[in-house]
Amino acid sequence: MTMKGLILAGGKGTRLYPLTYTRAKQLIPVANEPVLFRVIRAIRDAGIREIGVVVGDTADEIKAAAGDGSRWGVELTYIRQSAPLGLAHAVRESLTFLGDDRFVMFLGDNVLQGGIAPLIQAFASSEWNSQIVLKEVADARQFGVAELGDDGRIERLVEKPAEPRSNLALVGIYMFDHSIAEAVRSIVPSTRGELEITDAIQWLIDHGKSVHPYLHQGWWIDTGKPMDLLTANDCVLSEIEPAVLGCVDGESRIEGLVRIDRGAEIINSVVTGPAIIGERARILNSRIGPGTSIYHDVQVINSEVEHAIVLERSEILDVPACIRDSIIGRSALVTTRDEHAPMENGRSLSLELGDYSRVFLNRAAFQK
Ligand code: TTP
Repeated sequence: MTMKGLILAGGKGTRLYPLTYTRAKQLIPVANEPVLFRVIRAIRDAGIREIGVVVGDTADEIKAAAGDGSRWGVELTYIRQSAPLGLAHAVRESLTFLGDDRFVMFLGDNVLQGGIAPLIQAFASSEWNSQIVLKEVADARQFGVAELGDDGRIERLVEKPAEPRSNLALVGIYMFDHSIAEAVRSIVPSTRGELEITDAIQWLIDHGKSVHPYLHQGWWIDTGKPMDLLTANDCVLSEIEPAVLGCVDGESRIEGLVRIDRGAEIINSVVTGPAIIGERARILNSRIGPGTSIYHDVQVINSEVEHAIVLERSEILDVPACIRDSIIGRSALVTTRDEHAPMENGRSLSLELGDYSRVFLNRAAFQK
């Protein structure tokens, strides 16, 4: 039976400002690969060829990046969502593309360990109307949560409960048959004004449809907030294939899982993995620590960076403190300069920050 894929890559991405002011959140690279591309590969590897991509205001950027999908051997169809009115709204506006086929819906900003082929195959060959993926989490309050009965069946789904009655969060992968069409047409907007996918699934349960739970064992990260991106980066980096395709001079040391891409130069520096250094990046007299993704054309000179994502063309030059737990956007500059009118204690910062940017100074280092 043919199954289709549906990737949700619209939305607003407000929690990732300022990065998402100028770029679609699904295109932010984690371990130097846009999250969206990873999602496309996962669906392709499960044997699905026809994939719909729901897009919003960032449609042009996403189309330019992913194209027609031939790079991955899939066929991408872009579906313009009229407004970001919720995940079930996105399904509602994709019904023409979906037809009567069974499909897997994958949130375009979610990062998951391992493939999804086994669960797609289980669903494709079943009679279930839906399959949802659950993951045990420590604090379920920020997720859609599933409550199971003693028989293991799903009784109730609750969106971001104040007092969760289960620790099973809904992972951003859902499988449906055509019965979801009636569900997304029947539900009404939630208090936050969105058509919630949890309400649509609850509708299926309430109308006697079979919704099968699948417990995911590996890691799963919803990259909604900046620190989630760093966590996803750690997880993906811990699985990279080490390789040195660029140049490493005799004065440099490469330790642990490290991938150095074509055209990158490592000069008199230490790179400790897990880490990835993108194409044409230049690392000179510097230290790159674990959990770092340096993207294409970045320069790090006389500086230290660890546990960070640095996007293309940015420069980190002569910084006398270790830059860590950081996300640096495109073409940014972090450096030192002489003050025009020095302050007595010498402790000043000169900043040119975009709207909603955030700067965190290490409190201990600046205390008298
Ligand atoms: P969310 O992270 O729930 O929403 P958002 O992207 O609007 O982010 P924020 O809350 O920070 O403003 O979205 C999950 C995924 O689904 C993401 O890839 C965007 C996509 N999406 C749509 O395609 N259409 C929508 O209407 C919504 C709400 C999300």
